[in-house]
Amino acid sequence: MIYIFKLSGENYKLAKFELETLLGRKLRRSKDTVSIDLALSLKQVIAICNRSSMVQKCYVDGLKVWAAKSDKRFVARSPKKKPKTHPAMLKPKLARLLINLTGAKKELLDPFCGTGSILIEAGVLGIKPSGSDIDRKMVWYSELNTKHFNVKATLRHLDATELDTVFKNVGAIACDPPYGRSSTLAGKKLAELYPKFLASAHKVLRKGSRLAMIRPHYLKLRITNDWKKLGEFEWYVHGGLTRKILVLERC
Ligand SMILES: C[S@@+](CC[C@H](N)C(=O)[O-])C[C@H]1O[C@@H](n2cnc3c(N)ncnc32)[C@H](O)[C@@H]1O
Repeated sequence: MIYIFKLSGENYKLAKFELETLLGRKLRRSKDTVSIDLALSLKQVIAICNRSSMVQKCYVDGLKVWAAKSDKRFVARSPKKKPKTHPAMLKPKLARLLINLTGAKKELLDPFCGTGSILIEAGVLGIKPSGSDIDRKMVWYSELNTKHFNVKATLRHLDATELDTVFKNVGAIACDPPYGRSSTLAGKKLAELYPKFLASAHKVLRKGSRLAMIRPHYLKLRITNDWKKLGEFEWYVHGGLTRKILVLERC
């Protein structure tokens, strides 16, 4: 069947990359639309639309079969609905996007888990979440928030530059490290934390697995050649604040 997907205007390249990861196929985009012949049932395609964060509409033979408009998928887990909140917490839609960019199916680690937004979203998708944070209070926030949504997460108090002291053989990493504004850098410099974290993530991630992370656009980050850079996308937050979403594959 020929399916037509209309993508979110927030960033078409990123929306296409998310859909490619969910479908496991390369796609060709024309403006805001991807048209593709898929040997999948309507039910399977609707499940993919429901999982995606950036598909807006889906058509089969000109008939609309799915729309994100009046979408209630994320409302129940919006920051205000969580027992513990923090100014730096991620909205569920962005948390879902990061997870989808990793292609995670069974398990996922967030080594900067904060209030647990990524862990909760992973749990909702049936992915087993593990989380860690350098701040004990944030680990506790993650514990309370994940429990509130009946998500079972493995949680640790840990520096993300020392992941191999606890974790091994990890299948996917999605995270939103600190920018040094509303969340703590725990005494480290931004330019020191990110490369050390990547080196640590490389030790625990399985070969061929992905890491998706947000980073400040002003940070110069050298990607060592033991990673394959799959994509880097601009993500506009609000007035003057843009972040980058980086997707890497462990070589
Ligand atoms: C931007 S916040 C993450 C917010 C989280 N995604 C949420 O939705 O609540 C960054 C987190 O990184 C933690 N952090 C800072 N330095 C760290 C380090 N070296 N290792 C692990 N966690 C760290 C902070 O305590 C903070 O909780």
